[in-house]
Amino acid sequence: MKNKPKSSSRRNFIKSSAIVGGGFFIVPRHVLGKGYVAPSDRLNLAAIGAGGKGFGDIRNASDNGINNVVALCDVDVKAAERAVSAFPEAKFFKDFRRMLEKMDKDIDAVTISAPDHIHGVAAMAAMEMGKHVYVQKPLTHNIHEARQLTIAARRNKVVTQMGNQGASHPGQVQMKKWFDEGLLGTVHTVEVWTNRPVWPQGIPVPLEKPAMPDHLSKEDWDLYIGPAKYVDYHPLYYHFKWRGWWNFGTGALGDMGCHIIDSPFRILELGYPTEVEASVGDIYKRDWNPEYVPEGCPPSSRVQVVFPKTKVNDSKVKMIWSDGGLRPFHPDLIPASDDLGGPGSRNGMIMIGDKGVMSCDVYGTYPRLYRKDEEVLTMPDDFDGGNKYIDYPELGHQKAWTEACKEGFNSEAHNALTSSFDYAGPLTETVLMGNLAIRSYTLAEMKDDGGRKFNGRKKLLWDGENTRITNFEEANQFVSRDYREGWKLI
Ligand SMILES: NC(=O)c1ccc[n+]([C@@H]2O[C@H](COP(=O)([O-])OP(=O)(O)OC[C@H]3O[C@@H](n4cnc5c(N)ncnc54)[C@H](O)[C@@H]3O)[C@@H](O)[C@H]2O)c1
Repeated sequence: MKNKPKSSSRRNFIKSSAIVGGGFFIVPRHVLGKGYVAPSDRLNLAAIGAGGKGFGDIRNASDNGINNVVALCDVDVKAAERAVSAFPEAKFFKDFRRMLEKMDKDIDAVTISAPDHIHGVAAMAAMEMGKHVYVQKPLTHNIHEARQLTIAARRNKVVTQMGNQGASHPGQVQMKKWFDEGLLGTVHTVEVWTNRPVWPQGIPVPLEKPAMPDHLSKEDWDLYIGPAKYVDYHPLYYHFKWRGWWNFGTGALGDMGCHIIDSPFRILELGYPTEVEASVGDIYKRDWNPEYVPEGCPPSSRVQVVFPKTKVNDSKVKMIWSDGGLRPFHPDLIPASDDLGGPGSRNGMIMIGDKGVMSCDVYGTYPRLYRKDEEVLTMPDDFDGGNKYIDYPELGHQKAWTEACKEGFNSEAHNALTSSFDYAGPLTETVLMGNLAIRSYTLAEMKDDGGRKFNGRKKLLWDGENTRITNFEEANQFVSRDYREGWKLI
């Protein structure tokens, strides 16, 4: 590792032992044979969250055994079974803090694929110990955490990547090229949308207290809750379904925003937004009486975020997000028989410029440019987006990160990463701004007559530098969160 992290890692030990020994360990690679990987070319990896997406993340990062998986952490032994049998040599932990402490010297880099509420505390703990991190999207659960992780990555000189793998898709490069060549013109409006939530969302808080599955203990559940507010076990708060509750997840927008907003954010080189406003759907279990569930993410929402002009786009941009099955109106330039965005128009992005409309599906796939001169541009099959790991799983998004970890902080490979925290932090902040507006929209003050007053249902003004809403103080409670006793963002 070229930049020494705070703790002395095994890789540094290998390098310094070789130096102390006067080069005794250095053997030319050709002598060792084809396929030989020198120990210093192997990373020692650990996973926080080894089930669900975590299994794929650590498997991809291991790169068919080129890198060693030395430790796995999951609160749920059953969810982690596949990873444990794939990496039998790895030590297994339930508490990531204990894993990092016990195995500090043996771990170079960590994949973090637990639910959203864990990302911030786990990534910060790992980075502060000098570990490189790959963190699933959204980078964090709230804006404050995203800002702090971005700063901490630089402070600790670690190599970082967020798990929005579409960032490594050539479609993004193709769209950026079209835009930079002036084929779309100046952009004023962007529409982004998803069919999520595809899990229960907007439903009342469950009141029943089902027993925990036999393989989970009270201690496991307590570790699962981590920094969040304590609630008793309920399957609606657990695997996959946690997405629908603010205590753990970030709703439809948090789930898909970092994938879908990635293209316009990158192409237009957007920064902090200046305004945000939301509109949120209701659920009716009783005639005429909408459920009021501020703990739950809503069944559908629209959010409008405004960005100032940038050095590449000479106009303010209004970005409109829709979820819960709502999609934008079909632009005249796109034939009615064409899907909007991706197949079935379920997810997508359209950028409306003064020379046409550019569109793509989630992950930047399926890019098209509909021009006012009636020309429709698509990406040629042999388009070279410059991604040398394109044939690896998830477009080599994890492979690019592990290779960059070996090259070190600020190396060419690190600077070539498509979603290191310098980029992923501000992107995630934008996504979470939408959630701040959604939560402000549902924030109610009780009136004397027992009714509710909603003071946050308006355009909110954002001071990005100082991470503050300037015209509705109550909204600022959603910039960060209170951590449960015993937990903190180090
Ligand atoms: N990039 C993608 O395409 C993609 C796809 C799916 C999920 N994700 C992201 O991956 C993350 C996990 O999502 P999922 O669907 O796999 O969730 P999940 O609930 O299915 O799995 C999460 C895993 O983390 C474990 N876990 C929970 N709390 C933990 C803790 N405190 N410490 C260690 N392990 C813990 C769980 O037991 C489980 O094995 C989310 O942030 C999600 O947004 C990304």
